[in-house]
Amino acid sequence: MKIKIKNICCIGAGYVGGPTMAVIADNCHNVEINVVDLDRERIDRWNSKDLSRLPVYEPGLAEIIERRRGKNLNFSSSVEEKIKIADAIFISVNTPTKKKGLGAGKASDLKWIEACTRQVAANSEGHTIVIEKSTIPVRTANVIKSILESSEFLNDENSNKTFSVLSNPEFLAEGTAINDLLNPDRILIGGDNYEDIESLKDIYANWVPNHLIISTNVWSSELSKLSANAFLAQRISSINSISALCEKTGADVEEVSLAIGLDTRIGSKFLKAGPGFGGSCFKKDILNVIYLCEYFGLHEVAEFWESVIKLNNWQTNRITKLVTRKLFGTLSNKKISILGFAFKANTNDTRESAAIQICKNLINEGAILLIHDPKVNGEQIALDLNNEEFDINKSEIGSEGTWIKVNDIYDSFVDSDASIILTEWEEYLNINWDKVSNLMRKPAWVFDTRSMIDKKNFDNLDLNLWVVGKG
Ligand code: NAD
Ligand code: UDX
Repeated sequence: MKIKIKNICCIGAGYVGGPTMAVIADNCHNVEINVVDLDRERIDRWNSKDLSRLPVYEPGLAEIIERRRGKNLNFSSSVEEKIKIADAIFISVNTPTKKKGLGAGKASDLKWIEACTRQVAANSEGHTIVIEKSTIPVRTANVIKSILESSEFLNDENSNKTFSVLSNPEFLAEGTAINDLLNPDRILIGGDNYEDIESLKDIYANWVPNHLIISTNVWSSELSKLSANAFLAQRISSINSISALCEKTGADVEEVSLAIGLDTRIGSKFLKAGPGFGGSCFKKDILNVIYLCEYFGLHEVAEFWESVIKLNNWQTNRITKLVTRKLFGTLSNKKISILGFAFKANTNDTRESAAIQICKNLINEGAILLIHDPKVNGEQIALDLNNEEFDINKSEIGSEGTWIKVNDIYDSFVDSDASIILTEWEEYLNINWDKVSNLMRKPAWVFDTRSMIDKKNFDNLDLNLWVVGKG
């Protein structure tokens, strides 16, 4: 029998759980939604009156939180209690790459999936639809099912528990999450319980047109998510490889992107050269594809996807080498302004950001970095650069191989030998380079890894300019 979902519990209040549930709450006022997390500090921040303290920055998110929080959207640490009253449970926990043991460095670590599935098995009541929202290896639904159906949890003769497991991967991109959730290209639901698929479809149908809600078997759904990310990342490595060739040949990568993107078979999106893709998903999900291929003996396929990651690392590292070469082969005690630390604009997320590797490389060469980012705080940068003992309140310039966070973009240029644009924040489009030219030590270089600067505007300035894919 088809049930009407009235109470949702989302386990995991991160970059996916928070925004996704906010959008569902905003579009389904008569569905009660509880987002739960073991991380109490994260929950406190979701409940903070000061909306600038929300743990996730996404344009448009704070407004929805303000509208729905305390009405049909609640954030809580009472995981067991909220599982008990839910008709549908979204699993949105982290699935990072395994650090040790079998499959280390490639396979997904499913320990958080397993832990929260056990919580669901132990605490749910009646029929519960369990929905995989996290990105997971193909066939994980079997793991979830066998835990849910294990005698450990169903041995009570009076138990009225039943479950079905659906796969409903999330395709949002950070920085545009709210728009992506409101206007998805498609909603994908994988499973074999027709009635439960219909129940979940009814939730999305509140704002997504029916023809965009598609259902497949559960394995296709799980693999589609990994494949989508692998394809997207592959396009970036492809255009980054061409960016290097452009720099050697005098071609302009933006002109090449435009020309090839107009071919409808190729399409214009995801053809922007940059410092290498970052973010918590692409590398992890490709590594997972590689692991699966190796597991199934598909070594040539594994090698193909491995080359996408190799090219990405090469692109990131070639930028440091290029900066070092242009600054006469030494960065020792040279000040370098770093514009942007997030892995892309409009997010406070730094996971796998190319900026981390590039800053580490520069520090290793002895540079002094003045780092600016409008949304990433100093504590996060210190964590990413492994400076556990770094005093984030320190504002004066340190010695060779150190960094400080600056709040004013122009402070980063004072006496700098170089500036590197690493994140495409809109405010970097409006920098007054004439003013900057007076602040930097000469000869000075600007390295634009996001192709934000129009070379023509630099013609009359005493600044050297390098732009990715243009030289
Ligand atoms: P995240 O690390 O921001 O959030 C995960 C949260 O789950 C954490 O707050 C953690 O404390 C919590 N958690 C872990 N185990 C728990 C448990 N047993 N009980 C309660 N809470 C628990 O991760 P994220 O970026 O939101 O990603 C979540 C999943 O979604 C991953 O599988 C990821 O691959 C996938 N995904 C992410 C994105 C993205 O852009 N970030 C997009 C699509 C899919
Ligand atoms: C990605 C997928 O896009 C999304 O569908 C999935 O659900 C999660 O993973 P995300 O990592 O949040 O989203 O951002 P995305 O816009 O894909 O950017 C990833 C990285 O690629 C960023 O570092 C970005 O700067 C870079 N990128 C993106 C490019 O260098 N060039 C491009 O043309 C596009």
